Amino acid sequence: MKLSSCTAVAGANIALVKYWGKRDESLNLPAAGSLSLTLKELGTRTTVRFGEHLGPRDRLRLNGLEPDDVTRTRNVSFLDLVRAYAGTDARAEVVSENSVPTAAGLASSASGFAALALAATRAAGLSLTPEQLSALARRGSGSAARSIFGGFVRMNAGTAPDGSDSHASAIPEGDGWTLRLVVAVTAEGPKAIGSTAAMARTERTSPYYDSWVTTIPRDLLEARAAIAERDLPRLGALAERNALRMHASAMAADPPILYWTPATVAAIETVRGLREQGIPAYFTIDAGPHVKVLCTAGTASQVEAAMGATPGVLRTYIASPGRGARVLQETTS
Ligand code: DP6
Repeated sequence: MKLSSCTAVAGANIALVKYWGKRDESLNLPAAGSLSLTLKELGTRTTVRFGEHLGPRDRLRLNGLEPDDVTRTRNVSFLDLVRAYAGTDARAEVVSENSVPTAAGLASSASGFAALALAATRAAGLSLTPEQLSALARRGSGSAARSIFGGFVRMNAGTAPDGSDSHASAIPEGDGWTLRLVVAVTAEGPKAIGSTAAMARTERTSPYYDSWVTTIPRDLLEARAAIAERDLPRLGALAERNALRMHASAMAADPPILYWTPATVAAIETVRGLREQGIPAYFTIDAGPHVKVLCTAGTASQVEAAMGATPGVLRTYIASPGRGARVLQETTS
C-alpha cells in the first residue's frame, strides 16, 4: 500500500427534509431519504497521515485538543473501516479544525466525517467514487453522506442490505440559486442529548415516529419540485413543516425530547414577523435550540439584523451554498 498524507475540506449542511430515524444501526442506514443544502462558510478541514511508525494508537487532534473518549472511539472506528477497505494496519495521525465553534449547532459531525472520509481514503491510497465516499461517510454520521456533494443534495434511503445504495447525490437543478442561511445561535455548550441517541429514543418510544417516516417521501418530492422551480416560499413552507414534524415526533418520545428554549420560540416569531413584512424568510431547527433561516441573498442582512435583535439570540452567522468535499493538498511519502 502506498501511504501518504491528505488534507481535505467539507462544508456543513442544513437539512430541509430531515433525517431522523434509522433502519439499521450497525451500518447506520437511514429509515428514509433526506434533502439538504451544503454550506460554504461553515465546515471542517482535516489532514490525515498514515504511517507504520506512528505506534499502536491513532493520534487525533480535533480543534486543537485531544478528543474525549466517545469522540475518539467514533473516529477510530471510522478509521478502522478505511483500514479494512485499504488492507492496512497502519495507524493514522488526524488533525481536524472546524471553521466555526461546534456550539453553532451546525452539524459539525456532517462536515467532520465527510472531510475525514475523503482525507483518510486518499491518504490510504484509495480513490473512491463520490457515491462510495458518501456511503462511507454515512457510517461516521448519516448527515455526513450529504456533505460529500455541493449545493442541494438528496440522500437515498437505499434498499441494499449492505448499504451500498444508501448514499447521497447532487440535485443540479438547484445550482446557482443564490440563497442564504442565517444561523441564530441561542445557547452555548453541547446539547442535552445528541442526535444519535435522540433519534433512537424517538424510534423506540414515540407514537408519532411511524407517521413521521411516512410523510418523508411526499416532502422529498415537494422539495425537489420547489427547487426545480426556484420557488422559495414553497421550499421554505415545506422546510418549516418538516422541521416541526421532526420535533413533534421527538417531543412525543418517552422521556420526551424538547430541544427548544424560549429563545427558539422567539426566533420562530421573528421569522413569522419578517414574512408579515413581505420578506421571504423560513426557519428550520435541528437537534438543538438554534434557529436557521433560509432567505434570499438580497434580504440576508435584514434577516440577520432581525434575528440578532431577538431576545436570547447570542450570535448570528450568514452562510451561503457551498461546494462538495474536496482535496486541498496531497503528498506521497
Ligand atoms: C437533526 O447525522 O448527526 O441534524 O447518523 O446518528 O450521526 P447520526 O446522526 P446525525 O443526525 C442529523 C440529524 C439532524 C437532521 C439532518 O441533518 O438531517
